Amino acid sequence: MRRLLPDPGPTSVSEQLDGYRPWEQAHAERPFLAMNFATTLDGRATIEGVSGPIGSETDTAMLAGLRNRFDAVMIGAGTMRAERYGRLAAKPETRERRERLGLPSEPLTVLISGRLDLPWDASLFSDGGRVLIFTASEAEPPETETRVEVVRHEGRVDLTAAMAHLRREHDTRALLCEGGPHLHAQLQAAGLVDELFLTIAPKLNGGDGPPSLIEGELEKVVDLELAWLLEESGELFARYRR
Ligand SMILES: NC(=O)c1ccc[n+]([C@@H]2O[C@H](COP(=O)([O-])OP(=O)(O)OC[C@H]3O[C@@H](n4cnc5c(N)ncnc54)[C@H](OP(=O)(O)O)[C@@H]3O)[C@@H](O)[C@H]2O)c1
Repeated sequence: MRRLLPDPGPTSVSEQLDGYRPWEQAHAERPFLAMNFATTLDGRATIEGVSGPIGSETDTAMLAGLRNRFDAVMIGAGTMRAERYGRLAAKPETRERRERLGLPSEPLTVLISGRLDLPWDASLFSDGGRVLIFTASEAEPPETETRVEVVRHEGRVDLTAAMAHLRREHDTRALLCEGGPHLHAQLQAAGLVDELFLTIAPKLNGGDGPPSLIEGELEKVVDLELAWLLEESGELFARYRR
């Protein structure tokens, strides 16, 4: 892998992430929030319905490396239905590495759901770990092996209030949001996103997959600054700051 910006030269995922300490940038009233997305060149969020085939193994390494630098990882219900997440830090060596950084041994998984229509048979709900769901539904979740905490909002989830809850009640200093596009649009519109990690895969997909990154209107254009740009085998890894 090479770094194109700043200071061009050879690098690696671990070298890039070594000094990355998002938990030190927590806001008083909410966590520091970074988004992570992978996109095809034609701006699609999926290949055959899921995001995994978009990026390379290096993209997977970047995602895994990022996850282990955040207190919590958040996704919307649409992403959970499509991607069926499992436990994020099951391996003992991952947990130890997190603890050495002063992070909880595994990230809290945060779900945002309107209807509580979730794939309850996904391994996230049976593998242990910690799950927190913000929902606008009054339905009761089924019994699960994984401990699931539910926070209810009226009408829809108020994301600003949810972020404040995470900071106050769970001491979440840094939150990585992995999508999807509907949730991202609302977080940007509410001014809650500090950084965007974007993998641009040298692939065209076409088809009718969801648009990558943003689905929904932003009231005004959000200007971003390019913090780094990395390249490997034609795949670009960009990091933008608000
Ligand atoms: N390429 C990538 O990096 C990437 C990343 C993530 C996802 N994806 C893909 O994107 C697709 C999913 O897109 P999406 O935009 O539908 O996903 P999403 O943003 O994860 O989920 C949308 C759903 O989240 C819930 N939600 C969002 N904001 C809410 C609020 N304020 N209050 C209550 N509920 C709220 C609603 O759930 P209910 O339906 O329960 O009401 C809504 O239908 C999948 O195909 C996935 O594979 C790709």
